[in-house]
Amino acid sequence: MDIIKTVSEMGQRVASARVAGETISFVPTMGFLHQGHLSLLEEGRKRGDLLVLSIFVNPTQFGQGEDFEDYPRDLQQDSALAQQAGVDIIFAPTAAEMYPSGYATYVDVEGITETLCGASRPGHFRGVCTVVSKLFNIIQPQVAIFGNKDFQQLAVIKRMVLDLNMAVEIIGMPIFREADGLAMSSRNVYLNQDQRQQALVLSQSLIQAQQFVAQGQTESAEIISHLKKEIAKYPATRIDYVQICHQLTLEDQTTIDADSVLLLAVYVGNTRLIDNAFLVPDND
Ligand code: PAJ
Repeated sequence: MDIIKTVSEMGQRVASARVAGETISFVPTMGFLHQGHLSLLEEGRKRGDLLVLSIFVNPTQFGQGEDFEDYPRDLQQDSALAQQAGVDIIFAPTAAEMYPSGYATYVDVEGITETLCGASRPGHFRGVCTVVSKLFNIIQPQVAIFGNKDFQQLAVIKRMVLDLNMAVEIIGMPIFREADGLAMSSRNVYLNQDQRQQALVLSQSLIQAQQFVAQGQTESAEIISHLKKEIAKYPATRIDYVQICHQLTLEDQTTIDADSVLLLAVYVGNTRLIDNAFLVPDND
């Protein structure tokens, strides 16, 4: 396994892989790998001859006052995990390599970026789309793998790939959870023991909503107001949003159907956690 830090060296490796007729599969991450990331790598290993993992804490997707500086980083541990997962190349550029002085180009997807996380994190998806476009151009993968954990991110990337005629297949993978239900996230390390316990309200809310639907509840407003009251019982929590949306448009739905996804963003202490689930079974 090689660790490549420059765009030019990455370009050379991609060019020789192309000449050799190899398929390139790609998993973009910000590192501090956990089993959720590893499940994406496992899928990537199956889908490509050359498996590339990027590790880059992308400054343009963090807003003012967000956790860019504090975001956990451990390239040594990530390298060991990546090696075990069968990664061929880690692409780990510096911020100056990706955004040299004079950098001036951004990718903006309209509409579906304006709701949910886009509403509370202005500019976030502009940063995500910009860096993912750049990584696609540098690595030129045939297949790229993302997690459903960041449901809106995946929808935005699919929209961008379609709109900009990018020749890459986008695969979405299920949310990988801790044994007690908490969705795995690099940010979970920010939680103290008490917050970690209170954070379970996110995944429990998803299950509760699915149960309401199974019992015949079809009104989004009923479910949302019930969940908001439940979450508010946990003193360390502060709700950012609780919404039920159509899986493709991400528009709010008043009535539940097979396309309904419940999406949550909740601060636990200062840590902003997200989670989501389809509300009608057999959709995950
Ligand atoms: P990061 O948060 O490191 O996540 C990298 C990928 O792992 C994303 O596709 C995310 O959805 C997926 N992932 C995270 N937690 C997961 C879990 N518990 N189960 C399954 N998949 C999970 O998302 C980003 O980085 C960045 O925005 C990036 C796309 C790399 C652009 O900078």
